[in-house]
Amino acid sequence: MNDHQFFSPCPRGLEATLAAELIGLGANNIKPNSGGVAFSGDTETGWRVNLYSRYASRVLGELAKGAYHSTDDIYRLANTAVDWSAWHSVHDTLRIDVVANNSPLKSLQFTTLRIKDGICDHYRERTGERPSVDTRFAVRNIVAYISAEMCILYMDWSGESLFKRGWRMVTGDAPLKENLASGLVALTGWKSEMALYDPFCGSGTVVIEAACQALNIPAGLIRRFSFERFEKHDAAAFQRMKSHARNAILTPQQANLAPIVGSDITPAVLAAARENAERAGLPEGVIEWKQLDALNAHPHAANGILLTNPPYGERLDMRGRKVLAQDDRFWPAFGDALKQRFNGWNAWLLTSDMGLPGKLRLKESKRTPLFNGAIECRLFGFDLYQGSKKIRPDRESQSPS
Ligand SMILES: C[S@@+](CC[C@H](N)C(=O)[O-])C[C@H]1O[C@@H](n2cnc3c(N)ncnc32)[C@H](O)[C@@H]1O
Repeated sequence: MNDHQFFSPCPRGLEATLAAELIGLGANNIKPNSGGVAFSGDTETGWRVNLYSRYASRVLGELAKGAYHSTDDIYRLANTAVDWSAWHSVHDTLRIDVVANNSPLKSLQFTTLRIKDGICDHYRERTGERPSVDTRFAVRNIVAYISAEMCILYMDWSGESLFKRGWRMVTGDAPLKENLASGLVALTGWKSEMALYDPFCGSGTVVIEAACQALNIPAGLIRRFSFERFEKHDAAAFQRMKSHARNAILTPQQANLAPIVGSDITPAVLAAARENAERAGLPEGVIEWKQLDALNAHPHAANGILLTNPPYGERLDMRGRKVLAQDDRFWPAFGDALKQRFNGWNAWLLTSDMGLPGKLRLKESKRTPLFNGAIECRLFGFDLYQGSKKIRPDRESQSPS
């Protein structure tokens, strides 16, 4: 059944990865777009994508759409096209976000106000009461997507963005969003039987996401979702879906899990990483944590995947990590360490520094454009096999749209 038309935004560059995941989650009519994927499915599909998706940022369910000429048309759409009380009680707080693309409308703030008025008047005309707005912790979140001629109203089924898995209490320096980190793991082709190493692991996002993938720990198992507050939500059926998910979690032995190592120079972030891994539900010892300068990194297996997002120059300057930013000997030395010690490994570095391969004196075999929030990055892949340095790089892989 395809009762609902959904759209899931995701980090730009991960659209194809999310589309492939959605097939596995039973979604239909999957259409990757720039910055997200459209799909359809029943209510359970909406729950399942929220609970399991490692790459989506949220799940939006389409409520109504219509052409507009002025904000009056948008007011009317919000006022008449949706049976709001079928979704929420008038007492549930409300938040509205407007995303506009090529819209001729002058003020997004005013448009937001008109949508709010349309919804509030809808309730007032029927109940005499109107919902109140809470811009921070609203029970219901409405997203309006406004293009040049059309307005689409969505109900947000997720609430807090899905990259917030619920296990991160303390962050390190410039942590990766969990869904981007999970996408990196997927793009490297890592599988649980391959050794994995992040030598600039910070609060552990990459290695924790990889271990959760391997052990089948659903991304959203310990968090709540907006759809749990829908008027018609079937809490018992969703609990059954969660118990099923819990029962399908694997032990490291069942997953045939190879050793995973995260190291960082900063002791405080390693302490955070340890706590994060525990809260994420990973058994002790699945990830080995080491305090180490990346220049002293050594492989813990004959071959494997080294995946990391090294400190970005611009952030280093801002945060005063002079140890790397001011030291132009660091990157050639790190490149040498990779070449000399990690022979047989594949190294993958996510960075906004397009010149990083040159600084490492390594030739990338793959480069994939990705966005870390608004920052344009590349995931550079290096084959650290002897004699491989002569391999010419592939053409840049295109971001699907
Ligand atoms: C961009 S952050 C990585 C963030 C990480 N991916 C996360 O999600 O938390 C870079 C990390 O490199 C670490 N770092 C800086 N210089 C280092 C060095 N010489 N050796 C190892 N780690 C270093 C910093 O402590 C910081 O945690």
